Amino acid sequence: MRNILVTNALPYANGPIHMGHLLGYIQADIWVRAMRAMGHNVTYVCADDAHGTAIMLRAEANGITPEQQIANVQKEHIRDFDGFGVHFDHYDSTNSNENKARSEDIYLKNREAGNIAIRPVTQLFDPEKNMFLSDRFIKGTCPKCKAEDQYGDSCEVCGTTYNATELLNPRSTLSGATPVEKSSDHYFFKLPNFAQYLQKWTRDEGRLPVSIANKLDEWFDAGLTDWDISRDAPYFGFEIPDAPNKYFYVWVDAPIGYMSSFENYVKTTRPDLNFDDYWKKDSKNEVYHFIGKDIVYFHALFWPAMLEGANYRTPTGLFVNGFLTVNGQKMSKSRGTFIKAETYLQHLNPEYLRYYFASKLSDKVEDSDLNLDDFVQKVNSDLVGKVVNIASRCAKFINTKFDNKLSNTCAEAELVQSFIDAGDSIAKSYESREFSTAIREIMALADRANQYIDEKKPWALAKVEGQEQQVHDVCSVGINLFRQLAVYLSPVLPTLAKQVQDFLKLESFDFASRQNVLINHEIAQFEALMQRVDPKAVAAMVDASKDSLAAPAPAKAEKKSEKAKEKKAEPKIGEAEIIGIEDFLKVDLRVAKVVEAATVEGSDKLLQLTLDAGEAETRNVFSGIRSSYAPEDLTGKLVVLVANLAPRKMRFGISNGMVLAAGNGEGIFIISPDSGAKPGDKVS
Ligand code: MSP
Ligand code: ZN
Repeated sequence: MRNILVTNALPYANGPIHMGHLLGYIQADIWVRAMRAMGHNVTYVCADDAHGTAIMLRAEANGITPEQQIANVQKEHIRDFDGFGVHFDHYDSTNSNENKARSEDIYLKNREAGNIAIRPVTQLFDPEKNMFLSDRFIKGTCPKCKAEDQYGDSCEVCGTTYNATELLNPRSTLSGATPVEKSSDHYFFKLPNFAQYLQKWTRDEGRLPVSIANKLDEWFDAGLTDWDISRDAPYFGFEIPDAPNKYFYVWVDAPIGYMSSFENYVKTTRPDLNFDDYWKKDSKNEVYHFIGKDIVYFHALFWPAMLEGANYRTPTGLFVNGFLTVNGQKMSKSRGTFIKAETYLQHLNPEYLRYYFASKLSDKVEDSDLNLDDFVQKVNSDLVGKVVNIASRCAKFINTKFDNKLSNTCAEAELVQSFIDAGDSIAKSYESREFSTAIREIMALADRANQYIDEKKPWALAKVEGQEQQVHDVCSVGINLFRQLAVYLSPVLPTLAKQVQDFLKLESFDFASRQNVLINHEIAQFEALMQRVDPKAVAAMVDASKDSLAAPAPAKAEKKSEKAKEKKAEPKIGEAEIIGIEDFLKVDLRVAKVVEAATVEGSDKLLQLTLDAGEAETRNVFSGIRSSYAPEDLTGKLVVLVANLAPRKMRFGISNGMVLAAGNGEGIFIISPDSGAKPGDKVS
């Protein structure tokens, strides 16, 4: 058993969590859960990154104190992570007493070791706001191409980089005042003292992705320079010891937040853990930081150097994620692809996103794309179509015909064993953060499980007398295979896994528990596990993410007309209105073929039909025929589709058409064209 401390990058306390953030947090959470499922002792902490000018100014704009600002945002961050099942053992803030003490400690040890220098720096100063301006808060005319309105570090028009003091006609974006040059003492961390140490450190086995180590070599070749670690007041942060009105730059105390968050966890919740066991120099315990690729510089150079300089251990490894794009592009507010965690949760199940991210992530520092069409397709076909389907096809027989008991023999010992054996490789894939490989391996198993059930057709056997034992055996094998899949998916889909664990009445769901095959085992009543992703919900989420100024009002109007439609009573048989042929011809009736039929979670009346309506058109139709038809009976059947019925929004999704059926109060009878008819044929 390994003792491991895992951290995620600390999100800034000045904005909401969005899809891009979630890539790295979900990645880390999956890894933590997987390592725990393999029996390791993992502690997982994070915190809000609460300091800096941006947060100070945000608070000012909101008319609150920085402390109020960071408290509000922290609540939202915790709520959002929780909503996505990102379950930290402890979530702290860098604005804590422990972090202040630890920051001072690390600074003072480095000062003692000769790693701190002081020298004056001339910077632009806002005489109205009485503060030094970082490049971000200065705009002016580019000294090279004379483009106006350029930031203090580089010109977006000609690409030249320069010092803010070189800008023509500079002005402060905070007050509009013309900045003046002013000098003050700054504190520096002497990074070059660690050049040799870092060059070796970054090449240590497993420390960094190789692509990153290569990139760092460019920096080593260019030569490391001193790092400016102080900011003058006013600044929201920790004052530097023996340096009144000088504050630690936010990136000094931010990574120290990893240590202090862990320290506070130990203090408040886990007296059995020991801070030094994890952070003293020769610690054998492992520490991993999950970070995005934009903050490698801080984590691979400054951070290990500060720790080494203060005689602490350095991280065992940095796990670096690439950036997220949505629909192939940078997230954008105008396109509605800058999707906040909160907005997603209002429309969609978080486990869909966890699964989608898992299916894309590897140990490489590659950017990932959240393609929303692909997202719908993949979740529906993999999770709903393949995995959950196995349980729903087998469970009902065990529940209704066999008193909730699985068979007392395993009819396919070899098949089940092969699923158990596959777990070793899947576990390895998780451990090496090759999640996309793990998912591929699991889905290959799901295909085999479905193939088995398709071959055995328990629903057909159930109609044959004397085949009860067969039905029992086949469904029990199916449930056992399903159990293996759910165990393997549990790091990715913790909520689904919990439901399955309850359904199967299992005490443990860790990877080792999969070894005992379920024989003569009682299960609970099956309840629908996961609904299909409704593309309309995805569209609504994108809509809700569009800049509110651009958002149109028709959503409300639409709802109203829906209500009006519902109110219109349907004419009863026998009192039908007489209509002319021209009215009848308005109804577009067509032959369609059932491609897929499924039960609908939360409804005992409806079946969800996927219809081939000809000309490559697929229709989604909800039909109230569940009382008379099982989904398996319908696949491949020809039906008559009312093709030009206005789409109807239902609680479960949009129904796009209607399937004709006769009803006599006792049963429902689908009207089916004789064989020979083809999807798309007109019915008249
Ligand atoms: N506060 C710093 C981290 C300090 S760690 C001691 C920070 N905060 S952040 O809020 O900007 O970002 C938090 C994490 O989200 C970082 O790992 C960052 O790389 C990641 N991402 C932010 N936007 C992202 C994408 N669009 N895509 C993937 N990851 C992204 O940086
Ligand atoms: Zn320019």
